[in-house]
Amino acid sequence: MGADVLVRNAWYVAGRSHEFAPQQLQGQVIAEKPLVMWRTEGGDVVAFDERCCHKRMPLSAGRLIETDLLECAYHGLCYDASGRCVRVPSHPDGRIPPQARLRRFPVIEQDGLVWVWTGDPARAEAVRPPRLPEIADPAWETKDTGPMAVPANSLLLIENLLDITHFYPLHDGNIGDIENSRIPVELDEGLRDGNPYVGTIRKARGYRQPPFLEDYLGYGLVDRDHTHFMLSPAVTRVDMRVWPAGRHGDERAERSYIIIHTHTPVDRRNHVWRLIINMPAGQKCKFDPSKPAVERFMETFPAVIAEDRWALEKQQAMFDYPDEGYREVFLRPDRALRRAREILMELEEAERTLAPPARPASKVA
Ligand code: FES
Ligand SMILES: [Fe+2]
Repeated sequence: MGADVLVRNAWYVAGRSHEFAPQQLQGQVIAEKPLVMWRTEGGDVVAFDERCCHKRMPLSAGRLIETDLLECAYHGLCYDASGRCVRVPSHPDGRIPPQARLRRFPVIEQDGLVWVWTGDPARAEAVRPPRLPEIADPAWETKDTGPMAVPANSLLLIENLLDITHFYPLHDGNIGDIENSRIPVELDEGLRDGNPYVGTIRKARGYRQPPFLEDYLGYGLVDRDHTHFMLSPAVTRVDMRVWPAGRHGDERAERSYIIIHTHTPVDRRNHVWRLIINMPAGQKCKFDPSKPAVERFMETFPAVIAEDRWALEKQQAMFDYPDEGYREVFLRPDRALRRAREILMELEEAERTLAPPARPASKVA
């Protein structure tokens, strides 16, 4: 139950803005839609159906032969930046079949991220990508892992991210310990910009931090506020704020980080995960004070990511077996995970009950 969910009506992250250099084609699959994308001469990122309307050749295997003129690698049909076919080499009379055009998908560039909507176009207006202003704010130092292919349903990652009780034993000795698993959990949920969100709030006082966190945040014994929010089917945000124990709320002593996790489904068994770490500019790590903490994070955190990927892949493999006789147990700290799963399943169910958009029948030129 749950791990085959796929929500199509959502803004998903296709990459950070700098990953889209002008006039460079890239192919991606988002929510079972193959896409060809590029940044046009005008500076906008465009996304079209990856399949050439002639014989389905993937267009990202083609090339831009002139500015914003995409040539298919198979028979050379050419498309402009609106997706319209403007050249058919095998038609010497220059005739272009009127239906020879690519389906275009809406793109929004916001907060240094490129977001694509591959669902029902009629629903795109009602939803906005969640705001993540720190990514493009110079007051924060930002780094990211780049895209990571994970052979698991994106819900398994969302559940992982909302759950810090797995820090022991999965991350024991780096970011986790058994005490972390026992911190009381508060739940919050609601709707913002058309996106249902749900998350957890954990407040720890006089908590001894595991080694990685002591290094990134500078203090061993802390008061700590730690929140994890699925902001939409596309993104989960983690806010960490610490103070030396006994000084909760003291602005001068606060250290923090924000992790933005983007989870873009490829299909029901695969997703692309990006981890974007943001720390206040100038925050240094404890065990090498010359080093920005954000750099240390990028050196050491891949070990944590590898542990999560290992678990997600193994969990996904277990969904190959029939559920018969198997019952999943939700524990007390799992309430947010359960809500996240329900939210995604409700969104998917709402899509099923909508009539599919009418498609014109294909004609021979
Ligand atoms: S498949 Fe693209 S031109 Fe024929
Ligand atoms: Fe984890």
